[in-house]
Amino acid sequence: MKHNLHLREATPDDRADIRDLITRAFGQEDEAQIVDKLEEEGASYLQVVAELDGRIVGHLTFYLVGVLGRLGAIGLGPMSVDPWVQREGIGLTMARYGLDVCKRANVPIVFVLGHPEYYPKLGFSSEAADGFESPWSGQPAFMALRMRHGPPMSGKLVFPKAFGV
Ligand SMILES: CC(C)(COP(=O)(O)OP(=O)(O)OC[C@H]1O[C@@H](n2cnc3c(N)ncnc32)[C@H](O)[C@@H]1OP(=O)(O)O)[C@@H](O)C(=O)NCCC(=O)NCCS
Repeated sequence: MKHNLHLREATPDDRADIRDLITRAFGQEDEAQIVDKLEEEGASYLQVVAELDGRIVGHLTFYLVGVLGRLGAIGLGPMSVDPWVQREGIGLTMARYGLDVCKRANVPIVFVLGHPEYYPKLGFSSEAADGFESPWSGQPAFMALRMRHGPPMSGKLVFPKAFGV
């Protein structure tokens, strides 16, 4: 884990650096486009960046998820860490920072579609997503982290248009 890692919320000035980072992390532009579209449709809730010596090496988006007829929820991703500093704990550190913001804002539940070996390290499980209907329901990659007890406990999830579902 790098000691001089600085975490903060992204600003509009970071946009070009973030786009470049996401494209390098994923090796394609699709996820950077999703992040742009989330912002354009007003669905971006929080964007965390990780800086190492003043350079952005990590980015994580949290976005708004609707739950039909009930209070809303938050989704996590895409997450990107610069390939030269991957597997050094930056992804988990960014995720914990963002989840802490969600917790303080009283967010009830956070959903993710991601690596089934990775997100359980943050407490996500597919069991926590049981009862919620989504295009990925029943897949091990579809997980949730319950932040507090209370509604919504079930319902059909409505994802931002950026994800094309
Ligand atoms: C996935 C990603 C964001 C993880 O960030 P990171 O900073 O490299 O991950 P961390 O160092 O915080 O990971 C810590 C732990 O997760 C494990 N891990 C990291 N990437 C993993 C992966 N893709 N699959 C499974 N486990 C993974 C590490 O081995 C480590 O485990 P350990 O603590 O038991 O040794 C980063 O690798 C990345 O940008 N990948 C390309 C883009 C991508 O696939 N994004 C995720 C989909 S939204």
